[in-house]
Amino acid sequence: MSAPFDYFQYKSGKLTAEGVSLEKIADLTGTPVYIYSAEAFLSPLRELKKGLAKLDHLVCFAVKSNSNIAILKMLADEGAGMDLVSGGELYRAGAAGIAGGKIVFSGVGKTPGEMDQALHYQDQGILSFNVESVGELKMLSAVATQSGKVAPVALRFNPDVNAKTHPYISTGLKKNKFGMTRQEILAAAKNLKEFPNIKFQGISVHIGSQLLSLSPLAEAFAFAKELKHELDEILLEPLSIMDLGGGVGITYKNEKAPPLQKYCELVNQAFGPKAKFKNPVKILIEPGRRMAGNSGILLTEVLYRKTRQAKDFLIVDAAMNDLIRPALYESYHDIVPVEKKRGKPRNTDIVGPVCETGDCFASDRKLPGDLNQGDLVAIMSAGAYGFTMASNYNSRPKPPEVLVRNGKFRVIRKRETYDDLIGLETV
Ligand code: LLP
Repeated sequence: MSAPFDYFQYKSGKLTAEGVSLEKIADLTGTPVYIYSAEAFLSPLRELKKGLAKLDHLVCFAVKSNSNIAILKMLADEGAGMDLVSGGELYRAGAAGIAGGKIVFSGVGKTPGEMDQALHYQDQGILSFNVESVGELKMLSAVATQSGKVAPVALRFNPDVNAKTHPYISTGLKKNKFGMTRQEILAAAKNLKEFPNIKFQGISVHIGSQLLSLSPLAEAFAFAKELKHELDEILLEPLSIMDLGGGVGITYKNEKAPPLQKYCELVNQAFGPKAKFKNPVKILIEPGRRMAGNSGILLTEVLYRKTRQAKDFLIVDAAMNDLIRPALYESYHDIVPVEKKRGKPRNTDIVGPVCETGDCFASDRKLPGDLNQGDLVAIMSAGAYGFTMASNYNSRPKPPEVLVRNGKFRVIRKRETYDDLIGLETV
């Protein structure tokens, strides 16, 4: 399972990361600060690798969920590949030393420049371009032809399946901008001559994020499998890659997240020997949140308590620019004092210093009334889509990132400075 406190537990009344004191970290770095547990990242990776061991597979971590290069390198050292969506993420992969053969490039709007960058990545290029439209396929073909390269391609299939998640993070419905319809894919496969320098080798499917039920995935896998069988009838060479995307959810509050073992069983059932493919197929998966979400917290300090009749406001030094999820999706993050308190619980809103009413991490939480100025507070489940979605709004420098591993911690990204804020500007 993946729950907020799996790797962040109280020891002698104080919250730790893998047993390492959060207070100690804050003493060194100041607040706000993102703190990650290495074990929390690695344990789901190991579980997925074990669960899929019977299949030729690659776990491609979704870089958009957490793109710190120390994290990418740590995961790659344990055998992970990467799923990325921009030239910037590809550049990060390069800095982390990720092999091109372990990289898939997703995304609906790859530019010709990004295509060229990926075709030339470490000279040999990447494992797969997950292409999302006929227009993109044409463009990739043109860019590849111009540079004398062959682009390996998986076409992203939109199976029109309801992922039953937040509408902003649902991607597999016909009305969503993502992927291609079955008809579009079949037509492209029949007209491959029109796309020189493209090697059509697979299909990919990703229907949404924070999925709490596996049944929409099962449905999408079944459609994808059916499509592969149809395509194999048309193509000279059968497809050799099935990319099943990411999306498996986690516990933020008290939701029941699907066990990874069940997810792996589903993949094995759908794509193991029973699938009766004509040829060996490599299975790719693209988990982001499930590996990163409960692997990080945002540690912040209480600046002020404002007492009102119906409720109190705790004003903390982290803000919506550091973690946008609550403001953007009304998402729930557990919020707890680092040092356990005994004060009578009060109805509390935890808010940041940014000049927007939406700068609110949580409303009407019961928090101890003696939680006060100078106390540390942890915003849980912030390892995925936390730092990567941070901005400099209100000209706030982005917080540092710290990785805890084997009882030690190190800063893997420094706090931004005021010079970083204006460094690219001229007067
Ligand atoms: N593969 C593709 C093609 C994706 O678009 C995504 C996420 C993933 C994999 C990873 O999905 P995951 O395993 O993390 O669910 N910012 C939102 C989440 C957006 C997800 C976008 N795509 C949030 O904070 O909830």
